[in-house]
Amino acid sequence: MIAYFNGQYLEKDKITVSPDDRGFLFSDGIYEVVRFYKGKPFRLDEHQKRLEQGARALRFNRDSFPEFLEIAHQLQTKNNLLSTKSAIVYFQITRGAAPRSHSFPKKETPLTVYSFIREFPGNIEEQENGAHAITVTDIRWAHCDIKSISLLANTLAHQAARDRGAIEALFIRDDAVQEGSHSNICIYAEGKVKTPPISNFILEGITRRAVLELCHTLRIPQSEEPIRREDLYKAEEVFIVGTTVEITPIVRIDDKDIGNKKPGSITRRLQEVFRELVNTSL
Ligand code: PDD
Repeated sequence: MIAYFNGQYLEKDKITVSPDDRGFLFSDGIYEVVRFYKGKPFRLDEHQKRLEQGARALRFNRDSFPEFLEIAHQLQTKNNLLSTKSAIVYFQITRGAAPRSHSFPKKETPLTVYSFIREFPGNIEEQENGAHAITVTDIRWAHCDIKSISLLANTLAHQAARDRGAIEALFIRDDAVQEGSHSNICIYAEGKVKTPPISNFILEGITRRAVLELCHTLRIPQSEEPIRREDLYKAEEVFIVGTTVEITPIVRIDDKDIGNKKPGSITRRLQEVFRELVNTSL
């Protein structure tokens, strides 16, 4: 596999990162995961914008990354993935390598830019039949709106879910569900698709935004409002949304069945129109 590292395209296992890299020492970095369908990115501009907002939030010495699209195209070409049905491109930027110090390094220290591509068919079985989730206490910091590479709380939560046969851990803060370890959460209840409002405790997902747009187009009532743990359990339908999971029905949470234990009709309809949206944006 050929990956991109600081201006060069190299065999991935030939890339070496400085032990002084601030990503390695401090998790001082941000990332994006973009889905490519048949060689075309899904809403790349929105990913790019979020990355740039992250760079400003972290006060990086550069907050514009126009090379993102070119790198993604080169990675597809060099790895013969242009005609692949579905791939993800990962893009990470850290504050660069400098002797360890809590204060930022000299202004001219170059950022470290890393990108790789991977064939990614997604999990068709889970999208078709639904999957299980668990709830966990949200122990994350107060800036979950930044797509930071500091993901320890997310990986611990996700592993706890996997250990219990579930695919996602849903973070609960003060009795309100926020989002999953790598996805946003939606429920269907009282005739509305509901999702927690944008705040510093969730990432404003690009898939979440697309799903809300689709609800609008389909005239399905929607609202961005706090969702309590009990609302989750009592919802008619629950689904997670994100670049990797797309729209995946959740049919069991903790030890409680959701709705009639099968993916619901609203989730199904949204999956269908999401697929159409993806196909028409190619
Ligand atoms: N995660 N919330 C969190 C915490 C996430 O990590 C993600 C995506 C989302 C969904 O955002 P989007 O729709 O823009 O992908 C929400 C990526 C895929 C990951 O970490 O692999």
